[in-house]
Amino acid sequence: MEKLKLLTGIVLLSAMSAATNVLAQSAKPELIKKADQALDLAVKQYKLMAKQVPDSLLPRSTNKDGSLMTSKSDWWCSGFFPGTLWYLYEYSKDESLKQEALKRMAVIEKEKYNTHTHDLGFMMYCSFGNAYRLTKDPTYKEVLLTSAKSLSTRFNPAVGCIKSWDHGSFTFPVIIDNMMNLELLTWASRVSGDPSFDKIARTHANTTIKNHFRDDYSSYHVVDYNTASGAVLQKKTHQGAADSSAWSRGQAWGLYGYTMLYRETKDKKYLSQAKHIADFILNNPHLPEDMIPYWDYDAPGIPNVPRDASAGAIAAAALLELSRYASGKDVARYWNAAEKMLTSLASPAYLAREGENNDFILMHSVGSAPHNSEVDVPLSYADYYFVEALLRYKQWGKK
Ligand code: GLY
Repeated sequence: MEKLKLLTGIVLLSAMSAATNVLAQSAKPELIKKADQALDLAVKQYKLMAKQVPDSLLPRSTNKDGSLMTSKSDWWCSGFFPGTLWYLYEYSKDESLKQEALKRMAVIEKEKYNTHTHDLGFMMYCSFGNAYRLTKDPTYKEVLLTSAKSLSTRFNPAVGCIKSWDHGSFTFPVIIDNMMNLELLTWASRVSGDPSFDKIARTHANTTIKNHFRDDYSSYHVVDYNTASGAVLQKKTHQGAADSSAWSRGQAWGLYGYTMLYRETKDKKYLSQAKHIADFILNNPHLPEDMIPYWDYDAPGIPNVPRDASAGAIAAAALLELSRYASGKDVARYWNAAEKMLTSLASPAYLAREGENNDFILMHSVGSAPHNSEVDVPLSYADYYFVEALLRYKQWGKK
């Protein structure tokens, strides 16, 4: 009986989800043209990239000496290259991109058993999740469900969160980025009928609303918890300019995370949180004219500091989706903001020229400025969310 109720709930949820997928705004023909040009360029770049990166590794960024930086499968970004290849296959139907994606997925599949990172959502859902979405091959479903089980082992009920890192001096660190890993869990409940994954995702999101956000809806990067009582021990930064600052990518992860979770659950409090975060970003006096954020909204030295194209790409993808769930003036406000971001990213200021930029698509992102690591470089996730946003724009903006 309980199972029947759950299944009915899941069917109803899916129907409601479909009902919200209404056309929000129309795409501009000139931006569709630019999107196609950027996607054509992306296909060429990623085919070049495929030849450059050794079979057992994944592309990550650019080293300080200008050479290509690669990673092994356990790096949190390992799923972005195969994930982007799937998106580009979806766009171009070029079979060689699919074959390349499959080759790289074989390298990262073993990470489904990895219980030492919270990043399995990024790693497995961006890669195997897109593969499953496009092919419905049950092998990928099994990989994803195993990954969801591994991720769930990191949940502590006393804290009400999934632990982000096992390394460093924190007790039980939770970073705002972790919102992104919840999609793997809501998906797992939907396809398996096991509500426990979904419950973990919602509990994590609720605890994060309570403890990660300031009055202006900017977020701390890291909240550290006592594992027994769940009490907050400290609120810090790791990749931002200061504990009290608004690290740009963190704000984008929060925006995307709560928008996604509203899609997945239809719980209005997640929509409200996403709108508040969007408003913090869009009303920020330090958001530049081209709408691509500096690496931190409070970085000392603005305007003479690097931009973070990855934060712009993630925010653009999220705002396009948020526009579809918004009402009144917000529908156009979020859509138009995303259009401006995409117009900037698809311009020569950020878009690489063919055969340059170590074959990544976008230039000018920042991994971690405080660690002087990956500053003003391409990053595999900037590419992933840029391509995702371009496809969303083309698909959702159809007349
Ligand atoms: N999740 C790590 C980062 O955004 O840099």
